Amino acid sequence: MGVFDRQTGHEQVVFCQDAATGLQAIVAVYSTALGPSLGGTRFHPYRSEDEALPDALNLSRAMAYKAACAGLDLGGGKGVIVGDPRIDKTEALLESYGRFVQALGGRYITACDVGTYVEDMDVVARECAFVTGRSPAAGGAGDSSILTAYGVFQGMRAAAEAVWGSPTLAGRRVGVSGVGKVGRRLVGHLLADGASVVVADVSAEAVGRVRAEHREVEAVDVDALPGLALDVLSPCALGGALDDRTVPALQARVVCGGANNQLAEPGVEKLLEDRGILYAPDYVVNAGGLIQVAEEIGGYSEARARARATGILDTTRKVLRLAAEEGVPPAVAADRLAERRIAEASARAGGRILPAGGPRPARP
Ligand SMILES: NC(=O)c1ccc[n+]([C@@H]2O[C@H](COP(=O)([O-])OP(=O)(O)OC[C@H]3O[C@@H](n4cnc5c(N)ncnc54)[C@H](O)[C@@H]3O)[C@@H](O)[C@H]2O)c1
Repeated sequence: MGVFDRQTGHEQVVFCQDAATGLQAIVAVYSTALGPSLGGTRFHPYRSEDEALPDALNLSRAMAYKAACAGLDLGGGKGVIVGDPRIDKTEALLESYGRFVQALGGRYITACDVGTYVEDMDVVARECAFVTGRSPAAGGAGDSSILTAYGVFQGMRAAAEAVWGSPTLAGRRVGVSGVGKVGRRLVGHLLADGASVVVADVSAEAVGRVRAEHREVEAVDVDALPGLALDVLSPCALGGALDDRTVPALQARVVCGGANNQLAEPGVEKLLEDRGILYAPDYVVNAGGLIQVAEEIGGYSEARARARATGILDTTRKVLRLAAEEGVPPAVAADRLAERRIAEASARAGGRILPAGGPRPARP
């Protein structure tokens, strides 16, 4: 099925091909109503164009919603490069990709995603002025998981306030599923706030690392964690953690974590609500990473980025309040908040898209 037939509402979808370097990429711009579309580039061995296109479309729309909810003046975009990053990623290919992104004239700004890293963004930036997620040596902010974990903690405080009346996890038992870059840092925030923490990870090494840092942390099997007597479950591994098999087993009153796309399918948000479980929407609470790269656009200030990530506390409160007022699950309320902000900006702009323009690349 083609782009038009899908009726996803995307503003622009660009197919990029360069035989000399083997580059095959798709850049999807969902909206520029609020500003340039920002979103990472995923480098993945898609089996076909039919697999890559929906990923670019879905991920760019999700970025637009995340930015809109976070109060950022940015639209949503995403790049996907078809190939195995371990085999196909070359400097020449990344430079070629940079030329295509540059050709969009700032309507799309790229960053890291699965399969791309800060050093790759430094290569893309040789040919392109519209790159974030760069190394600190190149003026970037570096590892985005620091602010992501901090933001998730703020969102969790808002959820705790809604359920138990106070924005703290002190005295609560929190289960963190996945203790990689984000989960491990979240554990530190939780312990500092006075929570007790149980972790689970498919990687024994990841569990070992977190327990070496914090001896008081308990570890259990991945499959055992959701069914434990927890106050909060925090999915911080891959997407799809919440489905019609896991939700009925939950004992936690709150689900709030860093993983993207936690709801495995539509309807799970209702399942959670019916069980009296407060679900803090993933893209609302994990916006810290996006906030970090967005701050790079005007010259990175860690203090400013952290202050904005602190705002995830209030944003989550706002989403939960809207959910209560409109009688819908928080995930639906977050979507409504984002859609309204994008629609208002689009109306203000008279429906006009953002024109190309902006600085020239460092290397002409
Ligand atoms: N890093 C960021 O800035 C950022 C920003 C927004 C969202 N996210 C999302 O947060 C999640 C974690 O990101 P990360 O950067 O920490 O990744 P990571 O790869 O560093 O960590 C993921 C961890 O999850 C573990 N894991 C994998 N499958 C698991 C399973 N079934 N059960 C339990 N553990 C499992 C892995 O072993 C690993 O330790 C991802 O969904 C990512 O998309 C990350």
